[in-house]
Amino acid sequence: MGNREIIARGEQCLINAYARAGIVPVEGRGVRVWDVDGREYLDFVAGVAVNALGHCHPRVVAAITSQAARLIHCSNLYWIEPQVRLGEELVRLTGLDRVFFCNSGTEANEAALKLVRKYAYERGEQGRYEIIAMEHSFHGRTMGSLAATAQSKLKGGFEPLVPGFKYVPLNDLSAFESAIGPQTCAVILEPVQGEGGVYVAAADYLRQLVALCRERGILVIFDEVQCGMGRTGRWFAFEHYGVVPDVLTLAKALAGGVPIGAVLAREEVARAFRPGDHGSTFGGNPLACAAALATLAAMEEEGVVANAARQGAYLRARLEELAASFSCVREVRGLGLLLGMELAFPGQAIVDACQQQGLLLNCAAGSVLRFLPPLTVAKEEIDRAVEILAGVLAAKEAEEGGKLMQAPQG
Ligand SMILES: Cc1ncc(COP(=O)(O)O)c(C=O)c1O
Repeated sequence: MGNREIIARGEQCLINAYARAGIVPVEGRGVRVWDVDGREYLDFVAGVAVNALGHCHPRVVAAITSQAARLIHCSNLYWIEPQVRLGEELVRLTGLDRVFFCNSGTEANEAALKLVRKYAYERGEQGRYEIIAMEHSFHGRTMGSLAATAQSKLKGGFEPLVPGFKYVPLNDLSAFESAIGPQTCAVILEPVQGEGGVYVAAADYLRQLVALCRERGILVIFDEVQCGMGRTGRWFAFEHYGVVPDVLTLAKALAGGVPIGAVLAREEVARAFRPGDHGSTFGGNPLACAAALATLAAMEEEGVVANAARQGAYLRARLEELAASFSCVREVRGLGLLLGMELAFPGQAIVDACQQQGLLLNCAAGSVLRFLPPLTVAKEEIDRAVEILAGVLAAKEAEEGGKLMQAPQG
């Protein structure tokens, strides 16, 4: 079966929840993937920031294979050895105290939202249930995470969502301060927003916001589902700011492609959950935790985070060169290898044309090309990706120029 036949069959049996590109990737190695017809692509989407080590890193493959032969699943009714070891590793890397495991980013955020409400409740502050979130945020698709997500286009048809959320613009401290009320128990934010269009929290803003929250007894949740795990050139984006959240959510890259999610919290906050308050059948299962342990070990031993910082700076510089040469590029922004290029028009046609030329990219918020290559990406792969993009932008500008020349004068 080739691309066409698989797509035709998928169109018959799958719920039409995704706007999918017309290829069927079936194999990957490092930064490259191949579709079922044998065409090769440079993958600058990387499973939307999941494949941080590239595709099929041998250490992750070996860990999954050997754990699968030993014990794939075990209920949280029992202690799970790889889960304990992964918990210790994440506590060491983040500086937070305790961790709860689940299976995805949205689940990690659901757990975080429940945890901060339960913390207030346990302190006898039952009226403090409100959570402030940021405009352009994206926290997931389940009812609570969707309520925290300030993008109306994602919510239509699903209301009423979970009540108790307020939204303020990112990087506006006085708007945040004005939104605080006696009911406020927490704020949730992405230090670098991904889906919402690649917006970076300003350093002073974030430091002052955290200080204000500490002063008012408001918990700080950082959603690092996309920007965590080395993506910004540090293990966690919060390290760029010199602040530490009370609660941190992770998912995506954590287990090298195997579904996983994690919530970390300070001891005092973590204690708000007692047995029975929250749970997950699959959360922290041996297979996912073994994959995550191998991912973390490979990242540490192979200098992957430093590579993300180095190649992130290089890719940014190359994209800024394009911004200087093409008038359709409005701005390049982001941190490390979470970069966005805002265009003067919707980006999907550019994404499609790049795919035709062998480069996978994706588009956030309509007009922002998003660059999320594996953190192992090499300079030559960046050069090739930029060369393809430059060709596509040049063709687009020539086409637009042609249209302008043909437009009736007067
Ligand atoms: C910042 C952020 N939070 C949460 C999510 C939701 O993660 P998942 O799709 O694993 O539920 C995403 C997904 O893109 C994300 O970028």
